[in-house]
Amino acid sequence: MKTLVIFYSRTGTTKKIAENISKKLKCDIEEIFDCENRVGVKGYIKSGKQATLKKLTKLKDTNKDPSIYDLVIIGTPIWAWNMCCPIRTYITKNKEHLRKVAFFCTMGGSGANRTFKCMEKLCNKKSVACLKLKTKDVINNNYSEKVKEFTEKLKII
Ligand SMILES: Cc1cc2nc3c(=O)[nH]c(=O)nc-3n(C[C@H](O)[C@H](O)[C@H](O)COP(=O)(O)O)c2cc1C
Repeated sequence: MKTLVIFYSRTGTTKKIAENISKKLKCDIEEIFDCENRVGVKGYIKSGKQATLKKLTKLKDTNKDPSIYDLVIIGTPIWAWNMCCPIRTYITKNKEHLRKVAFFCTMGGSGANRTFKCMEKLCNKKSVACLKLKTKDVINNNYSEKVKEFTEKLKII
């Protein structure tokens, strides 16, 4: 099965998990970048507001074509109990080209279940598996078991 991991990460937490998943599944990976400056406190506040308002953003060009993959695994940090704006934009632009989807997120503490439901609705598809991790567990390298469980599920779909 051809699999792509696609993710956005503002401060590297979601990126660490995306890289781990792609390594475990030996699959392609692509990081999404947008054109907004999201650095620092100003960037944090702006991003939170935009996520609450379900705003789209302007993405930099991506290289991988999701339509050639059987499974696209989408990773987002939780922003204000929502998916982040770059991932909302990516799904909105590409939903017609997604065959199967799985989701993962990193977060301070809450908002994952609500976000996964919103992502399913936006994709118009049920996810085959979901993984939620807390930022502190990612920083402390306390995520291997959960990532393993997630990737094992994906190997047998
Ligand atoms: C704008 C903004 C809003 C956030 N809102 C939430 C939230 O609602 N719930 C939560 O648990 N964490 C929230 N967080 C924390 C991030 O989800 C968390 O730190 C995440 O691991 C960051 O991932 P990254 O390093 O890949 O950007 C928020 C972070 C930002 C920047």
